[in-house]
Amino acid sequence: MLHSRSYLHPFPARMAPNIALEEIERFDAGSIIVDPMVGSGTVAMTAVAAGHQFYGFDLDPLAALIAQVSTSCLDYDRVRGLFETIIRQARLNSATPADLPWVEVEDETHKFIGFWFADKQKRALSGIAVELDRLHQSEPSKEVDALKIALSRIIVTKESKASLARDTSHSRPHRVAKTSDYDVFKGFEQSVTQMLQRHSKLKIDGNATIQRGDARKIDSIGDGFCDAIVSSPPYLNAIDYLRGHKLSLVWLGFTIPQIRQLRSMSVGAERATTKSVEMVSKVLAGFGDISNLAPRQKAMISRYAIDLHRLSKEAERILKPNGTALYVMGNSCLKGVYIDNASALANAAELVGLTLLDRSEREIPLGSRYLPTPKENNALASRMRKEIVLKFQKVAFSS
Ligand SMILES: C[S@@+](CC[C@H](N)C(=O)[O-])C[C@H]1O[C@@H](n2cnc3c(N)ncnc32)[C@H](O)[C@@H]1O
Repeated sequence: MLHSRSYLHPFPARMAPNIALEEIERFDAGSIIVDPMVGSGTVAMTAVAAGHQFYGFDLDPLAALIAQVSTSCLDYDRVRGLFETIIRQARLNSATPADLPWVEVEDETHKFIGFWFADKQKRALSGIAVELDRLHQSEPSKEVDALKIALSRIIVTKESKASLARDTSHSRPHRVAKTSDYDVFKGFEQSVTQMLQRHSKLKIDGNATIQRGDARKIDSIGDGFCDAIVSSPPYLNAIDYLRGHKLSLVWLGFTIPQIRQLRSMSVGAERATTKSVEMVSKVLAGFGDISNLAPRQKAMISRYAIDLHRLSKEAERILKPNGTALYVMGNSCLKGVYIDNASALANAAELVGLTLLDRSEREIPLGSRYLPTPKENNALASRMRKEIVLKFQKVAFSS
């Protein structure tokens, strides 16, 4: 069965909502399921719709916020009431740009905002952002979080709306204008209405806890905690999730240096500082012919291998004995070299003691692909159009 989902906010790499998701419905009712890289919450939404207990983590604060709001019951009247309060105050203050308390004297974020936003929109956004922050500081709630998502929906867009950029929702923002007539207040109001309509179509039967966190080290979860892990890790070199989200996050309490710090913790984001170790070469067996790649690319691949190993180790730690880990992975192409991300994950998982139960491949449905679909019709192109579902078990050994 193909699940249709009502999504609250654009996201560049959603998990295609079947196969792994159908698997979720087969777990015993009330199972504890974790997605350590929750993204915008496709797995989370399916798990709570099926009545499970769900825990999700993501480094990206916007992803965590979208997933949280998508899996929480909301008081719609309260959302509308808070919206009225915010908009009234922001309109009153819109003559001059309000100072964002989290930016204060930090120059890089000011410059960033000055580049991507025109004055009129900057004044309106800063008025709204300051009010959202004030409400959040005095009484944090799901309803305030929902309004943050509604605001972000007019920034992280394909065509430019509140910012001067287009393609922000595809993680590749580029500035296409120097001025804009966009009415932020009106756009925000429409966005709140649309978001609530979409939210009302969600089925929320279980409960979800979503936090910002690093999948490679989930401190808040104890050993042997969950029945299953269902996730889709980033592919090598595929998507820089924070590149587009930055435009929103600067209005939601984050500075550019803070976002840069988060980015450096993203799976496969940067080069490894360590020299190649034995573990790296074991993870990379079958990964692809990387021998002719430049040292810079090889270093990035080493870091990816180290990250996959850390992810797997953490997965093994938090799973109950006999628990299942299910991952959806696609392939990459780096400087013309075909990269088999799924093999690397399978190697990493087996190195930490997880047993591979099943590996299946399927064509990626049109429109669900994370990366541009290759036009050619050769063997490489056809492998790039597939995604791989890997199913592992933490086998319990009896003594
Ligand atoms: C392919 S998306 C996940 C899609 C998600 N499973 C879904 O159901 O829509 C990959 C996610 O991994 C997150 N990520 C990357 N590195 C991470 C890390 N070290 N810890 C936690 N999340 C991370 C990214 O921010 C991104 O949201």
